[in-house]
Amino acid sequence: MKRVDDFRLRLGADELVPIMVGGMGVDISTADLALETARLGGVGHISDAMLPTVSDRRYNTKYVKNKLQQYKFNVANADKSVVQFDLGLIAEATATHVARTMERKRGPGMVFINCMEKLTMNAPKDTLRVRLRTAMDHGIDGITLAAGLHLGSFALIEDHPRFKDVKLGIIVSSLRALQLFLKKSARTGRMPDYVVVEGPLAGGHLGFGMDWAQYDLAAIVAEITDWLREQQLDIPLIPAGGIFTGTDAVNFLEAGASAVQVATRFTVTKECGLPDEVKQDYFKAKEDEIEVNQISPTGYPMRMLKSSPAIGSGIRPNCEAYGYLLDSSGNCQYIEAYNREVAAHPDAKKVKVFDKTCLCTHMRNFDCWTCGHYTYRLKDTSSLDDNGDYRLLSAEHVFNDYLYSTDNRIALPD
Ligand SMILES: Cc1cc2nc3c(=O)[nH]c(=O)nc-3n(C[C@H](O)[C@H](O)[C@H](O)COP(=O)(O)O)c2cc1C
Repeated sequence: MKRVDDFRLRLGADELVPIMVGGMGVDISTADLALETARLGGVGHISDAMLPTVSDRRYNTKYVKNKLQQYKFNVANADKSVVQFDLGLIAEATATHVARTMERKRGPGMVFINCMEKLTMNAPKDTLRVRLRTAMDHGIDGITLAAGLHLGSFALIEDHPRFKDVKLGIIVSSLRALQLFLKKSARTGRMPDYVVVEGPLAGGHLGFGMDWAQYDLAAIVAEITDWLREQQLDIPLIPAGGIFTGTDAVNFLEAGASAVQVATRFTVTKECGLPDEVKQDYFKAKEDEIEVNQISPTGYPMRMLKSSPAIGSGIRPNCEAYGYLLDSSGNCQYIEAYNREVAAHPDAKKVKVFDKTCLCTHMRNFDCWTCGHYTYRLKDTSSLDDNGDYRLLSAEHVFNDYLYSTDNRIALPD
């Protein structure tokens, strides 16, 4: 019987353990988690979501305070179009996080950055260009282009000296999305080095509509595999979403996948950035306590625990401090939803907003508990301590469980 360790992921001349731990913003997939994955021979991800904020928390900078200071005059204004990011400061924050992560890297694996293209930051192209190029400048091994896949991304970096050597991957949820991307980036003469195929059971934002339950990861992977073969294209495919055991992973690897991308099982590790008490909520979640809803202002459905404090919260939009989801005209769907509720309840001290949430604030504060579909199985991956809490796992334990387990077995911690 095969185990994940019987397979290897080949990316160009590099050979890796075929386990990728997916990006989880905002700093849920920490540098520690990514570095541990790389030490063990796999591919870990840091995330490029809200890096100025992450830098403040991790490296004692003051980006958020300073930005709020600069735009304080606009806090009560419904129109946020004036709020802009300073490209130099985005570069600085990205450089700090990437450089400090990469200088700690040990072992045979790799550290990639998950680039959330939906973070439009009131100047989508300019801010994306800076984030991508700065990560490349500071030694990131690879970039995974995620949520909101911007078809022109390769063109933003094609003149960078590392364009050919950095590993570049994209996340798609359909053959059509892959075809569009390949068509658009063909001009750069550069194929993606890998394609993550993310199915409907993943955590974070979904590349499906609210009819997500009708889709099946294995079927999408098979369709893309057939098409690539027809086109005589040899691009490693990496399925993601709901791959909960080593056996699930082996099933994909035996069917021709080059690796798997996983995340949910690592949300309850010590290295994961969620606060420890939130990790207990993940452990204890029951199946009917997880939902896919439409509260993300990005317009993509998102899966989360129903108990997330972000749901129904009616805080004032925090764009002067954050503003990562402002589109190119300075709008965000949450601002519209919030203003509507304020207008409908002119005398209320606090309003509740249920259809959208201030995702920047709530992701920053770990109050939007996004998770994969199988989060309700996490309780089967650990044991209970005397105080009624589940024991946190080490990333190494979870990684090795994927690598060596057979028969859908899950190893409990010692
Ligand atoms: C807490 C959490 C946050 C996530 N955030 C992101 C993200 O910022 N960007 C992204 O591309 N995918 C994100 N994902 C998706 C994962 O990277 C991964 O592809 C997917 O969850 C794998 O499925 P699994 O969680 O069932 O293993 C997130 C997943 C989780 C569980």
